[in-house]
Amino acid sequence: MHNIKVITTTTEMQEYSDRMRNLGKTVAFVPTMGFLHEGHLSLIKEGRKLGDNLVVSIFVNPSQFSPGEDFESYPRDFDKDFELLQKESVDVIFYPDKNDLYRDGFQTYVELKNLPKHLCGISRPIFFRGVATIVIKLFNIVRPHIAIFGSKDYQQLAVIRRMVRDLNFDIKIVGFPTVREPDGLAMSSRNTYLTPEQRINALSLYKSLKQSKKLVESGSKDAKKIIDAAYTLIKSYPETVIDYIAICDPETLDDMETVDRPALMALAVNVGKTRLIDNMIL
Ligand code: PAJ
Repeated sequence: MHNIKVITTTTEMQEYSDRMRNLGKTVAFVPTMGFLHEGHLSLIKEGRKLGDNLVVSIFVNPSQFSPGEDFESYPRDFDKDFELLQKESVDVIFYPDKNDLYRDGFQTYVELKNLPKHLCGISRPIFFRGVATIVIKLFNIVRPHIAIFGSKDYQQLAVIRRMVRDLNFDIKIVGFPTVREPDGLAMSSRNTYLTPEQRINALSLYKSLKQSKKLVESGSKDAKKIIDAAYTLIKSYPETVIDYIAICDPETLDDMETVDRPALMALAVNVGKTRLIDNMIL
């Protein structure tokens, strides 16, 4: 059985990574909030290939949840995660306590100027500040050479790439494609909230993305028309409340009116009380 190490303190984590770095080992890192599924595991398998040592963090980060969001009820199952990570031959699980990461008097945050003004940043105003801050903190604690993120959270990946460039972090950021259920629903820890009926309605996200891609392939260029068709499709499913549907520049996330070059289509939809996101390059 693979011997996996669970590290719970920031000091011990830094010491471990320093030791590995001094031995000339490459440290790969996959940050997560746990309740792992195949999407996470695809990043972890990639990390296993890219690093001599693979660290996976499990931490439900309070600073990226607004009051009233699901921080308290976010699903957690450390024992199951541990088992899955052991099967993937992960070297270290970094499983810190929130009082160690956010000590009394904590007041330093990392904020980006433009990227968070789009898409999810509009309805989740503190989300990207929380993500950027925890990811920078984790980078300083885990000290990886390589970090792997999923493009299911496209805007998050864009924020992290930008921040690493802007702040001169010597870390290679690897983006990995979205892993889906056989019927197309993007895997997410939050899918567990869905009732069987909501699970069917949740498929409308992927269906609308596929419909949009087809429209573009058959010559449609008018972003507004493509978005309207996606609205109509999603609204035809019960219990769906659309937060946004956007077609935008894949780098700046600025809206595009005409799809005359590769464009990102991104959307967020509440299905019942569950907020789901998905995206596709058109
Ligand atoms: P979490 O939602 O647990 O996701 C951890 C990583 O798994 C992210 O990089 C995310 O994009 C990736 N991921 C999730 N679902 C995926 C799927 N279906 N296919 C491929 N990759 C997928 O994202 C976070 O946690 C947090 O914001 C975090 C970065 C850990 C900071 O707290």
